[in-house]
Amino acid sequence: MTTRVSSRLGEVGRTDYCGRISPAAVGATVTVAGWVHRRRDHGGLIFIDLRDRTGLVQVVVSPDAAEAFATADAVRPEWVVSATGPVAERPEGMANPDLATGAVEVRATHLTVWSRAETPPVSPADGAAVDERVRLKHRYLDLRRPELLKNFVLRDRVVFAVRRWMHAHEFLDVETPTLGRSTPEGARDFLVPSRLQPGHVYALPQSPQVWKQLLMVGGVDRYYQIVKVFRDEALRSDRQPEFTQIDVETSFLSQSQILDLMEDMVRSVFQEALGVTLPPWPRLTHAEALAQYGTDKPDLRAGPPLVDLTAVGQQVGALELPEAASWVGIVVEDAALSRKQLDALVEQARALGAPGLWWIRRTPEGVRTNAGRALADGGAGRLADAAVLGRDGLLLVMAGPMGVVNRHAGAMRLAVAAQLGRAASGFHFLWVTDFPLFEWSADEDRWTSAHHPFTMPNPSDLVLLATDPGAARSQAYDVVLNGVELASGSLRIYDPDLQAQIFSVLGLTPAETASKFGYLLDAFRFGPPPHGGIAFGLDRLVMLMAGAESLREVIAFPKTHTGSDPLMGSPAPADPGQWAELRLTPWGPDLPQRSS
Ligand code: AMO
Repeated sequence: MTTRVSSRLGEVGRTDYCGRISPAAVGATVTVAGWVHRRRDHGGLIFIDLRDRTGLVQVVVSPDAAEAFATADAVRPEWVVSATGPVAERPEGMANPDLATGAVEVRATHLTVWSRAETPPVSPADGAAVDERVRLKHRYLDLRRPELLKNFVLRDRVVFAVRRWMHAHEFLDVETPTLGRSTPEGARDFLVPSRLQPGHVYALPQSPQVWKQLLMVGGVDRYYQIVKVFRDEALRSDRQPEFTQIDVETSFLSQSQILDLMEDMVRSVFQEALGVTLPPWPRLTHAEALAQYGTDKPDLRAGPPLVDLTAVGQQVGALELPEAASWVGIVVEDAALSRKQLDALVEQARALGAPGLWWIRRTPEGVRTNAGRALADGGAGRLADAAVLGRDGLLLVMAGPMGVVNRHAGAMRLAVAAQLGRAASGFHFLWVTDFPLFEWSADEDRWTSAHHPFTMPNPSDLVLLATDPGAARSQAYDVVLNGVELASGSLRIYDPDLQAQIFSVLGLTPAETASKFGYLLDAFRFGPPPHGGIAFGLDRLVMLMAGAESLREVIAFPKTHTGSDPLMGSPAPADPGQWAELRLTPWGPDLPQRSS
């Protein structure tokens, strides 16, 4: 028998969501609608787990309801049906404590099929087992997976909480253009050719950076926007070519006022969206972060900071490393690491390029170490004392050139935490401040901005702009959560002369500056207020809040690591007519050759 698909369009008459049928509804007649998650035949009854956005409810159909029973017999996974009938408590011993609706069931008297489904290539009932490319090609099916869908419920709550906080704190949501000019955030631009002005392009924004600064000149005072931005850069699990920022700019506030405000915003979002109360965030300068964690993105979950052992290290000396300038220790209390695991860590340190890693263990029988005679003069014991190593504690020691050894030790600190299965849970925020203003780019043989060229230098380092730009600190700050950079911001330059000086350190000629940023320097001639701001990666925030591994789990239609969308098949070749309208010809070694 072929089941009839109802043609009563729009007459489903749903009274409740599946996941919300509760014991309070027992006795009431309800209509629920959704997708057939699973169907089982048991002792003459047919059980359908019916699924919608909110979850599952069990629908039971008995042969007494003859028509509904025949329909239930025919339905298959992912068919769309509605069921009407009384809600009943499940019989003794049949409740399912793992399901929110597990105490009840809907005893269907009517079952209507609204659409059929072919056997889906991605079954929501099978979890994430199918190859990711297939899941992305059929993303609408993957979205039916409750574990994935719940991330979008969270994302909506986060966005709503952000907007509520912003509105309460008098931030104005102002939209900025998507078709604009290049904004220097360090990635390549996505370009959009202009049809009306052949040979000219718009750049999609890498951030609304310049617009929001112009809004401050325009007197907006407090701006925010939840905005899509675009960056053509190497992709990884926490980088997508288009992503969303919570973008913020303020006037007349100091750095610490901005930090306090933004911390309050995030705290209120965690409270509202997750029910989590965050403690105040520690603040470290960039130099402190490097010294204590060997990175500007410390993961505070991975155990205590590094210990500086240079003073003792230089006394005990390393026979293998006579001129080691810096000595760093990683203290691991209660370290249940086997000899094999320790050997693996030594290997891992070598793979990083570190000259070596000594472990030193306090045991009831005395100090154990792999250093052998490499550490002169009872060195192992003295290093353990200097690190205040407790009983049964483990100390990992690395020595080498200053700076490099901290970076290696920072990486090993994370490796030990991974070996021990730590660093798994909780939300550990911190601020990192006082970033360097510039970084030297060996590729380009010039200074580049560590944040972006509009960042205000530290006032006490202004003299260094001419003498030692690499030593100049900026008034830039990052938010780091569990070792991931979540947000970046800075106070901005608002003096056109200082801005011109920064452009010149960056190697831009006055003519290039005028052509690329003349509009900004112009605006700064007409009363710019002191201002500063920040941008959070919304996708990263939701990813970490959801405990997800990749941005793809919190973006409805994400791109693959090659920047393509297997669902729509983008990017796609343009039609010859479109190229002609733009007066462009695709060109390249493996593309049709440009006619000269
Ligand atoms: P920045 O370039 O550091 O700063 O970006 C801010 C935040 O955006 C997120 N982010 C990304 N998320 C997903 N995919 C990407 N490819 C990606 N790139 C960055 C990160 C990052 O911390 N205009 C400045 C902000 C300012 O100064 O106000 C800016 O865009 O979470």
